[in-house]
Amino acid sequence: MSRKSALRTLLPVVALLGMAALPAHAAPPTGGWIFDGGPDFPGFTRVQVHKDHGTYSGTVTSHWYGDLKMDDVRVDGDTLVFHLFNGNPRVTETDIVLKGDAKAVHMTGKLWYADFDIPAHAATKTALKALDFPTHPLPPRRVVKPLARAETPPMGWNSWNKFATDIDDKTVREIADAMVTSGLRDAGYVYINIDDGWQGARDTSGVLQPNAKFPDMKALADYVHAKGLKLGIYSSPGPKSCAGYEGSYGHIEQDARTFAAWGIDYLKYDLCSGEAFYHTPESVYAVYQQMAEAIAATRRPMIFSLCEYGRFDVGSWGRDVGGSLWRTTGDIEDKYETMAKIGFEKNGVPNHTGPGGWNDPDMLEVGNGGMSTDEYRTHMSLWAMMAAPLILGNDVRHMTPETLALLTNPEVIAIDQDAAGAQGLPAKKDGTREIWTKHLRDGSTAVGLFNRGEDVANVTVTWADLGLKPAKVRDVWAKSDLTPAATQTVTIPRHGAMLLRVTP
Ligand code: GLA
Repeated sequence: MSRKSALRTLLPVVALLGMAALPAHAAPPTGGWIFDGGPDFPGFTRVQVHKDHGTYSGTVTSHWYGDLKMDDVRVDGDTLVFHLFNGNPRVTETDIVLKGDAKAVHMTGKLWYADFDIPAHAATKTALKALDFPTHPLPPRRVVKPLARAETPPMGWNSWNKFATDIDDKTVREIADAMVTSGLRDAGYVYINIDDGWQGARDTSGVLQPNAKFPDMKALADYVHAKGLKLGIYSSPGPKSCAGYEGSYGHIEQDARTFAAWGIDYLKYDLCSGEAFYHTPESVYAVYQQMAEAIAATRRPMIFSLCEYGRFDVGSWGRDVGGSLWRTTGDIEDKYETMAKIGFEKNGVPNHTGPGGWNDPDMLEVGNGGMSTDEYRTHMSLWAMMAAPLILGNDVRHMTPETLALLTNPEVIAIDQDAAGAQGLPAKKDGTREIWTKHLRDGSTAVGLFNRGEDVANVTVTWADLGLKPAKVRDVWAKSDLTPAATQTVTIPRHGAMLLRVTP
């Protein structure tokens, strides 16, 4: 048999087999189904599929993200393949597959870090409607004047970098004690901020309760205040915090009142699950404005810390929503590469920073163990040069003398807290060597010399190139003066830094 006639004989058989496997009318079902269980994140509740003029569309509803529209929908036989976007540009979208019939479907896939394979059963219109995600109106755009003002970058401690959600009342009290006995409080670190993981459930009136690890927030605030410190807390405008705890969605004013009644002095407000539906500049402005107005209405001054990872040019409007500081970046990690990427490259628009409002390149990792002393010195030097908020992230109950020295050097803190509030900038870059300058209120200049390279390096400064005529050159880490010369060469270790204060 020739190849041609063999093909002719086979073709009808192949066609027949194909028809048996896939009826000509095979197509994905349309309708609405309610999920039977599934992972807590993102807490899927229902899926709805429509077909209009042969085109499929649909939504998947979740406790975290509300209604997520199916994106890039395509039909593959009797299954529907699509993407879901949770509003986070860092998340890679993976295929999600919906398969089944009018009575029951299965949704399989991955959203961010959660893999799922969950069944759903057909439901009546009323049952589906009962799962509508509640929507709440946003206020018209206004400028909010906060009662609290951060004249210099806020200084304090936060639980997240070291403890994550493993934080409780006892630890916070011990931290407060250690802030005093170690001298950190007197060095200027006054805020004790509880990050994610303190939240419990709402009571029948909707009042948010702390979880069992925080039996009495008011008593904790009293304890912290009695030590000459201030207490900060954390929430989200979304339904869920980033770690999956209760957010302030739908309870903004109520939560602000609760925080004020406890005696809270600082609120970090983290976009988290709200990013799925607050993803325009207008809506993100509005949700931060809404909480700022709710805080102002309590009449309790609170530092308002905006955490939306630097989106929508937040520095240009952060002050208008009562913000004292705003994150310019995603999360820091206790790794040189991450810290350096943020510190050298993601410090926000310099002229947004200054008395009253500060670019926030995230909290400190000094003392957490993932970097060398030279690298931590670079971390502190960069943050001081940037006039960044200094929020400690280590276990201050157990610190080496080296860590304490890095955190409490008064001359370094003075550069960070300088009254002019200028953000330092790179003045010269030469391969992996960088020279940064920052003008200080008294007419002197802070100069940071950095070696980003993998080997020890010499860095040469010619003062005239920086427009400086030094009478005095002070090495603030060494607490000693250098003999001024027109050109100076210093040796800096791998990933290290030197911080100078140059007086004309
Ligand atoms: C986000 C923030 C972090 C921290 C965690 C808590 O990732 O950027 O700083 O607050 O949430 O879940």
